[in-house]
Order: sequence, then C-alpha cells, then structure tokens
Amino acid sequence: MKNITIAVDGPAGAGKSTIAKIIAEKLNVNYIDTGAMYRAFTYLIISKNINFDAKDKIQHELKNAKIEFKNNHIYLNDNIIDDEIRADIINKNVSKLAKLAYVREHLVFLQKAIADKGNVIMDGRDIGTKVIPNAKYKFFITASLEERGKRRYKQIIKKTPGIVLDELIKDIARRDSIDSTREASPLLKANDAIEIDTTYKTLDEVVSIIVDYIMKGES
Ligand code: C5P
Repeated sequence: MKNITIAVDGPAGAGKSTIAKIIAEKLNVNYIDTGAMYRAFTYLIISKNINFDAKDKIQHELKNAKIEFKNNHIYLNDNIIDDEIRADIINKNVSKLAKLAYVREHLVFLQKAIADKGNVIMDGRDIGTKVIPNAKYKFFITASLEERGKRRYKQIIKKTPGIVLDELIKDIARRDSIDSTREASPLLKANDAIEIDTTYKTLDEVVSIIVDYIMKGES
C-alpha cells in the first residue's frame, strides 16, 4: 500500500484507540495514540507535584521530558507507563493540562513530526483539524454518552473494582466539555471528516466501514 495518513478524532470513550489499533495492523501503518502523550505529560506533572498554574515549571518539564509512543506503548523518559496513565487521577486531570495552549503547541509539534514520516494512523481530538489537516483519510468517531460510559466501565472494571458507572459517565462528560470548549484547538469534527456513530454498531462493523472506505480510496 502507498503512503497513507489517517486521522481519527472524537470524544472520550468512543473507541477510537481500539479501532485505530486494529486498522493499523490491517493496513500495516504506524499507530500513534496522541491522548497517551497528553496523559504521559499529565502523569509527569502530577508525579512531580507541580501546580497546573506554574507555567514556568511546566514549560521546563515540557522542554526536558522525552515522550514517545512506539509499538503500542507510551514511554516517558524511556520508561513504559501504559498502566500509570490510565489511573483515575490522570482521567480527572488530563484535560486541564491539555487545554493549555503552550502544552498543546509542544505536543502537536512532536505529533506533526511523526505524521510527516507518513504511513500513520493517529487518534485524538485535533488530528484532522490541526495535527494532520491534509490527512488523506479523516474519521470522526462518536457514540452516545451512556454507551461510551458503559464501554469504559467494561474495560476497566476488572482493574478498578468498585468503580461506579454514573461517576464514570460524569467524568467523561466533564472531559468532553473541557475538550470541546477550550480555546486552543478544541475537539471538532473536520469539515472533510467522515462521521461514524458507533452507538449501535459492533467493533467489527466500524472497522469494516473504515477499511472498506480506505481500500476504495487506494484502489
Ligand atoms: O484519547 P484520550 O481519552 O486518552 O485522551 C485524554 C485527553 O487528552 C483528552 O480528554 C484530551 O483532554 C487530551 N487530548 C487532546 N488532544 C488530543 C488527544 C488527547 O487534547 N489530540
């Protein structure tokens, strides 16, 4: 297959990463989870007890932190932190850091450099609008809030016993609200993105829709 770039955006818990990972394998392209990069940086700032208002300190950390997503793992300064970035405290705080324009600027710079190499499927909130505006394929994946909450619940209940579905739904809604209303590249469907509501669709159905669409475009 030729060099292709695929942007996948949408609200929290819509299944973007699960879908993107499968498509990456099927089409043999590199998968980049940009949410994991924002989460990794949030993990770093929280671990160092840095206040989110401390711009100088945060900028210093941005400059020095090595954040990489490769082979389906997120690395912070060469250490894998896949589990750490999924902790509740990260869920609750990541959007607060991700709305800061100077934090975004740095991470978007890193993401654009990866996208420039080509053959990539990237998922996030601003991929089709900001990171790879000229991506050949753009998808905007949605599902009802209730459905997204239920999916997230199923995903994490084993690792986080005692978690309450209603709380989870509230957290997702809170995160969506911050992500959609922030000034710096908010969560937005790109004009040329294809929207797929996955509420009543299986994972296989969504993957098929996307793969079929891309195969048509490449043939
Ligand atoms: O995709 P995920 O839910 O892991 O992303 C975590 C958070 O990172 C989002 O809620 C959002 O605040 C931020 N994010 C972002 N831009 C992206 C990817 C994620 O602002 N491209």
